[in-house]
Amino acid sequence: MSEEVFKKVVSHAKEYGFVFPSSEIYDGLGAVYDYGQNGVELKNNLRTYWWKAMVQMHENIVGIDAAIFMHPKVWKASGHIDGFSDPMIDNKDSKKRYRADQLIENQIAELQMQATAMVIQETGIDIHHEQMSAIFDEPNEKYKRFFEEHAKNPLTLKANNLQSRLDNALLNNDLAELKKIIEDEKIKCEVSKTSNWTEVRQFNLMFATEMGAMAEDADKVYLRPETAQGIFVNFLNVQKTGRMKIPFGIAQTGKAFRNEIIARQFIMRMREFEQMEMQFFIRPGTQKQWYEYWKEARIQWHNKLGFGKEKYRFHDHVKLAHYADAAVDIEFDFPFGFKEMEGIHSRTDFDLRNHQELSGKKMQYFDAELDENGKPYGNYVPYVIETSIGLDRLFLATLCACYKEEEVGEEDKKDTRVVLTLPSLLAPYKVAIFPLTKKDGLPEKARVIMDELKLEYNCFYEEKDAIGKRYRRQDALGTPFCITVDHDTLNDDTVTIRYRDTMQQERIPAAKIKEILREELDWKKLLG
Ligand code: GAP
Repeated sequence: MSEEVFKKVVSHAKEYGFVFPSSEIYDGLGAVYDYGQNGVELKNNLRTYWWKAMVQMHENIVGIDAAIFMHPKVWKASGHIDGFSDPMIDNKDSKKRYRADQLIENQIAELQMQATAMVIQETGIDIHHEQMSAIFDEPNEKYKRFFEEHAKNPLTLKANNLQSRLDNALLNNDLAELKKIIEDEKIKCEVSKTSNWTEVRQFNLMFATEMGAMAEDADKVYLRPETAQGIFVNFLNVQKTGRMKIPFGIAQTGKAFRNEIIARQFIMRMREFEQMEMQFFIRPGTQKQWYEYWKEARIQWHNKLGFGKEKYRFHDHVKLAHYADAAVDIEFDFPFGFKEMEGIHSRTDFDLRNHQELSGKKMQYFDAELDENGKPYGNYVPYVIETSIGLDRLFLATLCACYKEEEVGEEDKKDTRVVLTLPSLLAPYKVAIFPLTKKDGLPEKARVIMDELKLEYNCFYEEKDAIGKRYRRQDALGTPFCITVDHDTLNDDTVTIRYRDTMQQERIPAAKIKEILREELDWKKLLG
């Protein structure tokens, strides 16, 4: 899928009521978006899939819904006040601000693309850049020569060298080295086309506001940059009231806020977004085993969506966040390349221990189980494995994976249809009900069917326009079933059911609709 198709996905999202720019009548607000009437349904269904898989399917995981505002000391303890920043650099001529690491990453990507083009020309083996990473992971004989040549290419070597310089600079928090790389590479501002850069500085990503009526007694509070801290500060409340035994997890979904320096690619990087996070509390020393467990569990969860295994890959972190001793991203093959969709972090006891120190409240668990010497493990601050996925990125990945343009129709009446091949359980509407015409009692009959179905499923009713047009509209929304009520329905109580993916139509008794829907919309398909 190319950037071109990505543009189509973005305009489809707007045209069909999935996502709108925020405050659009005022020309929008940077990197803030609203979900429309169909978007909210898809988003809710994705959240439900996550919640069911993480909470309902695990006896030892429970959910909470913590407030967005938290005591300011939370962010001191978590390290966000001191360490949650990105290295930024400004171009003095255009005044445009960039993330220094991303400027360098773009340069690396550019070199890799040039290397690919060069090797395609030299070897005559045509391979698209966006396929490269997938094939790299599972090379086959056909492309072996291509990869050998690619690995030796001077531009590839230069890109690799740049990558390790970048990794080292980030690892050592060496801002001067980041600036030096930008200068050495003669990286230019895309607006002014000059290399007239400021020094690289750290920029804290948290939004701050004030709580309290009067300016004098106001306290500075932050909009949470991650939902995880709401879980950590409630660790003991949940453990005690839920009588939870380690290992156990606490999950929550909710809004998070980051003042991203560069916000782009639609809902990929937003300033207000939603996270779905789970903190799994474990005995110290077992973190490697549980880290591997959750890596596997989470990739399987993604694979169940059926978008194709080749669409995902793991990417180990080189520069670990301030709280982690191991971290990996699950990346998705977006139209603009493989990008992070979910993070799995081994967070050690960093958060609970720091909250314990700053609050003076014990964040310990008494483990009565016996160790190999027959003694109870006793009191300890638990270690934590975290799974953290951005709901908006998952939403975007789902749209990109399911957006299809298909040639349909016979030789003399060729046509293109746009269809969202969403897993049926995720579709905003499960079924659309159409009376063939607006008269002869057909709408009344259709309403009777609709009233019965809407108790269980989100249904769409429409009586305007030709039936073909109505089918196409539902294809574009991803509705898996359409039911048409015609004059025969009044005589024999049969309807036409039309299937989104095959476009096949079948005459069935109206009484059978529920049976077909129930079979297709069984959560076992995603959770079984
Ligand atoms: N609690 C850990 C944490 O917040 P993170 O890697 O910073 O880790 C987790 O964020 C996930 O949240 C990311 O994998 C991504 O899907 C999503 N995310 C982060 N920043 C985002 C942004 N600005 N816009 C949309 N989603 C974002």
